[in-house]
Amino acid sequence: MKRIGVFTSGGDAPGMNACIRAVVRAAVYKGIEVYGIRRGYNGMIKGEIFKMESSSVSNIVQRGGTILKSARSKEFMTREGREKAFQQLQNFGIEGLVAIGGNGSFTGAKLFYDEFGIPTVGAPGTIDNDLFGTDYTIGYDTAVNTALDAIDKIRDTADSHERVFFVEVMGRDSGYIAIPCAIGGGAEIVMIPETETTIPSIIEALRTGWNRSKTSSIVIIAEGEVEGGAMKVAAKVQEALPDMDARVTIIGHVQRGGAPTAFDRLLASRLGIACVEGLLEGHKSMMAGLINSKLVYTPFEETFTKRKLINPNFTKMVEVLSV
Ligand code: F6P
Repeated sequence: MKRIGVFTSGGDAPGMNACIRAVVRAAVYKGIEVYGIRRGYNGMIKGEIFKMESSSVSNIVQRGGTILKSARSKEFMTREGREKAFQQLQNFGIEGLVAIGGNGSFTGAKLFYDEFGIPTVGAPGTIDNDLFGTDYTIGYDTAVNTALDAIDKIRDTADSHERVFFVEVMGRDSGYIAIPCAIGGGAEIVMIPETETTIPSIIEALRTGWNRSKTSSIVIIAEGEVEGGAMKVAAKVQEALPDMDARVTIIGHVQRGGAPTAFDRLLASRLGIACVEGLLEGHKSMMAGLINSKLVYTPFEETFTKRKLINPNFTKMVEVLSV
């Protein structure tokens, strides 16, 4: 393999730049050419492809976002879209790809290999940490620390005004962000998509706290939990507890930005190099990840069809720690 392409796709995540840098530098180190593809699969379809050198990735290891831009491409999900992308890669002589993204990105990459034979090795880049085949995804650690910082600040004002705060963190299908925020942020209750937390149980937990002379409380809610997010949960609880002084905070896309933590820079660098090495070793449709600190390659299909289970003891921990 003499020439590879690299792109970022799906929701951006802090550390994507560090990963791009690692891919480019590892390719240069191995003596192969590397091309950047802008705007994910959309840019691949349109031919937004350019040659990258070692200097193209100077001064980005510490920056949030992605210098290659990102997108969720509807067109690539069609056969015609993938055919156009293949033609563009042929025009540029690109023989293999590194995809930095989440499950949508890897679903597309697998289809692309099955139909057109272009191998892709992926690095897990998503704040959600919801990919099977790696203990941690790039951006997760930073997102948790960003959310936790916000929760610490919310705690100050909750305490001053003796209020209940319903705080929503990201996580479309998983509670991976919510759990450490609840444990590390000293929350009374956590609601995640993987387990059921009923409205009556929240009401009971709040009442128990008040009976123990607690004057402020924090409820952490993952955006994808079944009741429909923090606004809805707060409204339902308020109905049953009309005297409760409550506020809702949705932390939102703040969690997707900012400088990556040391952990994310290291993870991104390690996995970026592993992607290039994986391609050169002949891997196709595989994601590089870390399990128990060891580098592993997992078939794309498993990364999005198998579910990485959250430790059920963690929700219990929140209950125990809020006595
Ligand atoms: O997948 C990462 C994520 O941040 C999810 O937690 C969230 O549900 C989603 O992306 C938001 O996507 P968008 O930026 O397209 O609104």
